[in-house]
Amino acid sequence: MVRTLGVAVVGFGWMGRVHTQAYARVLHHFPDLPLRPEPVTVADEVPGRAEEAAERYGFATAVRDWREIATDPRVGAVSITAPNFLHREIGVAMAEAGKHIWIEKPVGLTADDARAVSGAVAEAGVRGAVGFNYRNAPAVMAARELITAGEIGEVTHVRIRLLSDYAAHPEGALTWRYERERGGSGVLGDLASHGVDLARFLVGEIEALTADTAVFVPLRARPAGATAGHTRAAGGEPAPVENEDYVTCLLRFASGARGVLEACRVSVGEQNNYGFEIHGTTGAVFWDFRRMGELGVSRGTSYQDQPVSTVYVGPGAGDFAAFQPGAANPMGYDDLKVVEAHAFLRSIADDRPYGATPADAVRSATALDAMARSAASGAWVTLES
Ligand SMILES: NC(=O)c1ccc[n+]([C@@H]2O[C@H](COP(=O)([O-])OP(=O)(O)OC[C@H]3O[C@@H](n4cnc5c(N)ncnc54)[C@H](O)[C@@H]3O)[C@@H](O)[C@H]2O)c1
Repeated sequence: MVRTLGVAVVGFGWMGRVHTQAYARVLHHFPDLPLRPEPVTVADEVPGRAEEAAERYGFATAVRDWREIATDPRVGAVSITAPNFLHREIGVAMAEAGKHIWIEKPVGLTADDARAVSGAVAEAGVRGAVGFNYRNAPAVMAARELITAGEIGEVTHVRIRLLSDYAAHPEGALTWRYERERGGSGVLGDLASHGVDLARFLVGEIEALTADTAVFVPLRARPAGATAGHTRAAGGEPAPVENEDYVTCLLRFASGARGVLEACRVSVGEQNNYGFEIHGTTGAVFWDFRRMGELGVSRGTSYQDQPVSTVYVGPGAGDFAAFQPGAANPMGYDDLKVVEAHAFLRSIADDRPYGATPADAVRSATALDAMARSAASGAWVTLES
């Protein structure tokens, strides 16, 4: 029996739209799901934005103040897709109001914020999902299976990269992303958070790290009006960028493996160059988000000159079969959010976790805090376990 679940979205920028579309599509791809998400209400502080979203995507109502959603009895689950500085307040309030939450990474500005949200979810006995979407790619799932099965031997070292140009244009507006109070630690929360999640998902817990950070575009123009995504603001009043454009980090895993994680939001010539190279004693796996369905695999007993094959992952990998009938039919970014919506709704239906949870966000944010501390002190930082 399919039960209807009223869903709400708070913050209707890019992620608000992607979550909404994922709810709309989830039963097309996962028809066995016993919950049918129904778009009940949407909140955005920009006048007209929630109304436009309601009109276009079928929410019954639109509001300016997200607090109305916390007290709305029609709402069972809430997507929190507002800027980072609001994650804690909204996440805690929604969980305390008994709503299940699907919250975007990095879950607040600090590990303390992520812990507050995770604690509120646990305390309230609701389910929580977090937007670490790259782990949902079927090829990433396949890589994890290969690693876990020992197909590349013992993991020795790892390189994880998240290089992008979304902030490279000097006329890119000084939005919430570039302010410490609203955006937190810049590229650390934006991109390195995904990198830490991938590292943990594939290789296990990080024990210690040391990091270096930089700001390469120190001034940006204040926008004249409301922004969404990566708006330009040519001619606006210039103001300082308060958080990091770049981070590079050495990692020591609990397993003894070593790693390098690099993330940058101002890399000219790089568009979503996100991926990893994971090396083991007998093989390696390679993945690039821009060729999401392909996994480079080297395994065998040759050690030297061992070939690398490109495998097109297919219906056996992760949730691939929910989207395409055969290998090498490409999936897209939005499909990863449909996988995430499914895990979230399934976790509500079964009352057990699937996919990334607020506890994963706490681990990721703990590593990000350690990167910031290490960049300031120049020292290695051991992560609290
Ligand atoms: N998982 C991913 O791959 C991914 C990608 C992009 C962004 N994100 C995360 O999603 C979140 C949103 O990012 P985005 O790119 O969609 O940002 P965005 O700027 O496009 O959208 C944010 C929206 O929130 C609204 N908002 C601001 N204050 C509000 C308030 N008090 N109440 C209600 N709405 C409010 C804004 O008006 C805007 O419409 C961030 O936390 C970001 O880290 C995740």
